[in-house]
Amino acid sequence: MPILSATVATIAEAARHLRSGGLVAFPTETVYGLGADATQDKAVAAIYELKSRPSFNPLIAHVADLETAERYAIFDHRARYLARRLWPGALTLVLPRNRHAPLSDLVTAGLSTLAIRVPDHPVALQLLQALGRPVAAPSANRSGKVSPTTAEHVDEEFGARLAMILDGGPTRVGLESTVLDLTGERPVLLRPGGVTRETLEASLGEIDVAAEGHTGNPKSPGMLLSHYAPRLPVRLTCDTPRPGEALLAFGPDVPEGFALVENLSPRGNPVEAAANLFAALRRLDQPELTGIAVMPIPAQGLGLALQDRLRRAASPR
Ligand code: TXA
Ligand code: MG
Repeated sequence: MPILSATVATIAEAARHLRSGGLVAFPTETVYGLGADATQDKAVAAIYELKSRPSFNPLIAHVADLETAERYAIFDHRARYLARRLWPGALTLVLPRNRHAPLSDLVTAGLSTLAIRVPDHPVALQLLQALGRPVAAPSANRSGKVSPTTAEHVDEEFGARLAMILDGGPTRVGLESTVLDLTGERPVLLRPGGVTRETLEASLGEIDVAAEGHTGNPKSPGMLLSHYAPRLPVRLTCDTPRPGEALLAFGPDVPEGFALVENLSPRGNPVEAAANLFAALRRLDQPELTGIAVMPIPAQGLGLALQDRLRRAASPR
């Protein structure tokens, strides 16, 4: 079994494995990441290969603190202000890359910008400190599939192809970090996530939201529409149950007649729903069922990121 309970000893072992060019899956507060030493080309290339990730889709560099982040990316006053307020946390900043800092070009997919964050999880932070280098880490799932929120999910995705999974229990937030582009004059929300738009706007004023669904050379290549997809087809309505259909419910008023129901939050709380989303999608993704219908979720707070993930899960493959 590649799953190791995270301890001082296994974290040190994981850091050695990273330094020798290996891949390690590790917990963050958002989802589990598939990490590689961001300074080693071969190690970063192995992430793309294991995930079957398109090589034009750049990765997030994870670092232990703001001071380290400032060595790899160029922070203006907005970036520093946000980082001081919200790091460690589920906010990824896209900033101009510092050309003089050693970093594999595969991390940025050749872009002149770098996505960077300080994760809010003790195991991730200890691993980053032990390695003393940035860790490139996408979510630890095959490209386009449902993101992992437990070590077991990661094991289901990759099995024996991944040598080491640090287990830190289920992730707290359950959705990926918010990706905010600060390379232009106006901040642009590239991906809604664990830090809400409301929280960002309280610090920055109004922010733009990137148009989605681009292909070709989108601003954030991870914006490709189909993503987070279970095997079963997903539809964003739940009017009349179809034969053999499952329901992803939200709130107290659950319609009847579905073959299997997972309620993200019976009390209608988006924070609770976010923490449950990916595990619930995995549990509903049963071969004997025909599809997954989804109840509406309001767009406030984490609801915006929930809607985003579900829209992508439901979009044509
Ligand atoms: O919560 C998270 O962010 C997790 C954990 C492991 O930290 N990581 C994660 O990584 O979700 P990934 O690779 O699944 O998503 C990274 C997103 C993608 O949408 C990617 O296109 C975008 O960040 N991104 C990375 N570098 C970028 C850049 N230089 N410019 C614009 N977007 C970038
Ligand atoms: Mg991902």
